[in-house]
Amino acid sequence: MTLNAAPTDLTGKTVLVTGAAGGIGASAVEHFAAMGATVYASDIADDFDGAATYVRFDLMDPKGLDDCLAWIAEIKPDVLFNNAALFAMGSILEEGDLQQLDRLFSVNVRAFYAVMQACAKSMVAHGQHGSIINLASQAGHRGEALVAHYCASKAAVISYTQSAALALAPHKVRVNAISPGVIDTPMWKTVDAMFAKFEGKEIGQKKREVGEAVPLGYMGAPADVARVAVFLASDQSSYMTAQTIGVDGGNVLR
Ligand SMILES: NC(=O)c1ccc[n+]([C@@H]2O[C@H](COP(=O)([O-])OP(=O)(O)OC[C@H]3O[C@@H](n4cnc5c(N)ncnc54)[C@H](O)[C@@H]3O)[C@@H](O)[C@H]2O)c1
Repeated sequence: MTLNAAPTDLTGKTVLVTGAAGGIGASAVEHFAAMGATVYASDIADDFDGAATYVRFDLMDPKGLDDCLAWIAEIKPDVLFNNAALFAMGSILEEGDLQQLDRLFSVNVRAFYAVMQACAKSMVAHGQHGSIINLASQAGHRGEALVAHYCASKAAVISYTQSAALALAPHKVRVNAISPGVIDTPMWKTVDAMFAKFEGKEIGQKKREVGEAVPLGYMGAPADVARVAVFLASDQSSYMTAQTIGVDGGNVLR
């Protein structure tokens, strides 16, 4: 029997990470760099302290998004970690609900899609057999009464991952998604505070409850997601495309 052990080494690969200043993004930058990749990072944050060339773009702003797409054409990534996103909660019956839809979809769906498209075009134009990794969520697999727009935006990520994977397969560009469960990042400060407001919980209570409810018994760490991203970026996963991988301690059974 021949063992065909493809390398996880990312030496010579150029990786783009969006949402790089966040919990999962920052860990992904460190993991890609540690595997030998040249990493380009972007976020809305003013500063970024990590192993990457950093440029600030506001993906909600049409000009910021356009500038980011032009930058992608310059850096020609082999790998995209498509990670920037916003979380929000509210009721379908609430004033301002449609504005919240527009805000979330402008980043989580429109900018997410435009960044993926720009990377795909660049990969195809330069004959790169690239890997695109989209950040979905366990929330994308099931609706929630007060989290409708975030859940729908992540369902869109899963669907676009499948469509893009099929469209790009003839070019040997792979497209997969990761659906994290509950991962201990700055986003959880927002999530916990919103559940406190909408469900009358104490600060910290929702976060504690969701961790205890995970079959493995605790919240995940950003590195748990980053290690799977390294696998999806590398030739170890060369026969995988159009998949959404749960990194959730057993929360969602597929
Ligand atoms: N933490 C979790 O439990 C969890 C669970 C499921 C899915 N996810 C997904 O994983 C990804 C990373 O999440 P995280 O927990 O690290 O969140 P985070 O809030 O720590 O990071 C998200 C990053 O996106 C950036 N961002 C937001 N709006 C932007 C804009 N307009 N322009 C540019 N950058 C912008 C933020 O500044 C932030 O640094 C997201 O796509 C999120 O939806 C997270």
